[in-house]
Amino acid sequence: ASPMKTRMELAAKTKDEDKLYKRDGVLYSTILSPPETMDKLKDLEVRDDDVVLVAYPKCGFNWVVAVLRKIMNASTGKNEAPPERPPLVEFLPPDVQQTLSEMPSRRLLGTHLHPDNMPASFFSRKPKILVIFRNPKDTLVSYFHFMNKNPVLPSAEPWDKFYSDFMSGEVPWGSYFDHALAWEKLIDDPKVMIVMYEELKQNLPEEVKKISEFFGFPLTEEQVNSIAEQSTFRAMLETSNKSHGNLGSVFFRKGEVGDWKNLFSEDQSKQMDEVFHSKMAGTKLGAQMNT
Ligand code: A3P
Repeated sequence: ASPMKTRMELAAKTKDEDKLYKRDGVLYSTILSPPETMDKLKDLEVRDDDVVLVAYPKCGFNWVVAVLRKIMNASTGKNEAPPERPPLVEFLPPDVQQTLSEMPSRRLLGTHLHPDNMPASFFSRKPKILVIFRNPKDTLVSYFHFMNKNPVLPSAEPWDKFYSDFMSGEVPWGSYFDHALAWEKLIDDPKVMIVMYEELKQNLPEEVKKISEFFGFPLTEEQVNSIAEQSTFRAMLETSNKSHGNLGSVFFRKGEVGDWKNLFSEDQSKQMDEVFHSKMAGTKLGAQMNT
């Protein structure tokens, strides 16, 4: 059975209350990232030339994975991506982590983990790390729908409860704000590049160019434009429907900026603005986030 199928079967047998567990104060998926997988992760050997993508859940990780794969393929003419999809290291069972160590360079590695919980070699080595962020209101709304659609995760209903869980960091992979503040500390590191979901929406060709230059994959202007065209929400949804049927709808929902207005109450929006201000005021990352 494919790993995806096995996980779905496991999800069908698992009660909602058993779908998450806590490790070092952070919730994780029991099915995707069981303790054995997390334990083994600390041995992961990162290479200087790895292409590393980090994002808090629902900030556009899969979008940028698709963009990066196209960039790597166009530039090298080879398909260089880990065998599993999506390439989150915390999803790789211990034996697949082994396969990863045998993969030729350059590898594409991804994670939703907080930098403090990423395997140490991500920082003792010097790979370039691309970090994707998205305004917290849309991230929260996207997360709510995703939890409700993904059988591997518990339902997030009702909305008001999920809203407060997100605000207190009681959601899988932890607090959005903790992630943002941790990356703020690394924002001037030349090996780290932070890109906003909203910037990708606004000017995809420009961002494709920036990302390819950051990782050192030279592309022609034609290649940049072609990758951007193939990576719009509509284009990716069509490709996904062709190859995965319905499953695509778990990862593609609306792909818009500002959808939070359909779920947030006025009070919730005000509270989020206040929390955002108290945590992020005066930070460079906060200034990039259009809330
Ligand atoms: P919405 O739920 O707001 O639609 P992640 O990959 O980190 O889980 O993020 C998922 C979000 O990215 C979803 O947001 C999804 O629709 C959106 N997304 C996926 N592909 C996209 C694309 N090509 N363009 C814009 N948004 C995209």
